[in-house]
Amino acid sequence: MAAESPCPQCNGSGWKIVEREGISGAERCECVFGARARRLEENANIPPLYKNASLDNFALPNDNPIARRELSNVLLTVKAFTREFPNEKRPGLLLIGDPGTGKTHLAVAALRILLSRGFEGLFFDYQNLLDRIRSGYDIASNSTDREAYRFALESDILLLDDLGAHRVTDWVEDTVTSIITYRCNNRKPLIATTNLADPDAGSTVIEKSATIPGKVDYKITLADRIGPRARSRLFEMCRVVRMPLVEDYRLRKSMTV
Ligand SMILES: Nc1ncnc2c1ncn2[C@@H]1O[C@H](COP(=O)(O)OP(=O)(O)O)[C@@H](O)[C@H]1O
Ligand SMILES: [Mg+2]
Ligand SMILES: [Zn+2]
Repeated sequence: MAAESPCPQCNGSGWKIVEREGISGAERCECVFGARARRLEENANIPPLYKNASLDNFALPNDNPIARRELSNVLLTVKAFTREFPNEKRPGLLLIGDPGTGKTHLAVAALRILLSRGFEGLFFDYQNLLDRIRSGYDIASNSTDREAYRFALESDILLLDDLGAHRVTDWVEDTVTSIITYRCNNRKPLIATTNLADPDAGSTVIEKSATIPGKVDYKITLADRIGPRARSRLFEMCRVVRMPLVEDYRLRKSMTV
């Protein structure tokens, strides 16, 4: 790969001479910030499927005015989250809703805006993070696995995608609780997405049984999967956004950006 040509303003030094009222001094060149933002984006571990996800290319449905209005409100909330970032009182963002409603797209879009402003952030698929933390205990594990837990605690921003997916064990519950509690206590931003129901986020937690007429089934809730302590910390530290009922994006036809 050809090396990038040095910045014409500072000739690659990262410093430029500026004159103010006849006095010249050195100042950081803008290219330093651009390079930092690019490096942060490269290191953020964003999956290729979302490499172009942005708030600008998040489309609103044309054929359903209610969904359109609700989804544009979601978009405004996510925009406000990035604009007001960092927010000491509510440093996090939690997106709750059905699969295919655009949660990961919006979470990544928000993360990307913050990376471009120079914050450091990491994308972790929930299950993958837990697998890596677990294998990190193994002496023979590679160093990135050993560091996964520390990264999840210390990264400026943590994006935890698909929170509560799959298995539940005491170990999972303890690990998730310790990550969320640590971040909450230290006011460290967390962006999370989940498909799981939660009554406080307006989800219905009972539904008609698909198999036995007249009977109801209880849906698995976020608290069932990550434990009540982690769930309560999450609500304490996050702006909670409930995704409207929209058709799975991959199946939708008429959309406008
Ligand atoms: N409103 C939308 N506008 C543009 N792309 C969307 C929208 N909603 C979802 N997508 C795209 O559809 C795919 C599935 O969305 P995703 O964010 O993964 O859904 P979820 O995380 O809610 O399951 C992704 O490729 C995403 O970029
Ligand atoms: Mg998702
Ligand atoms: Zn420069």
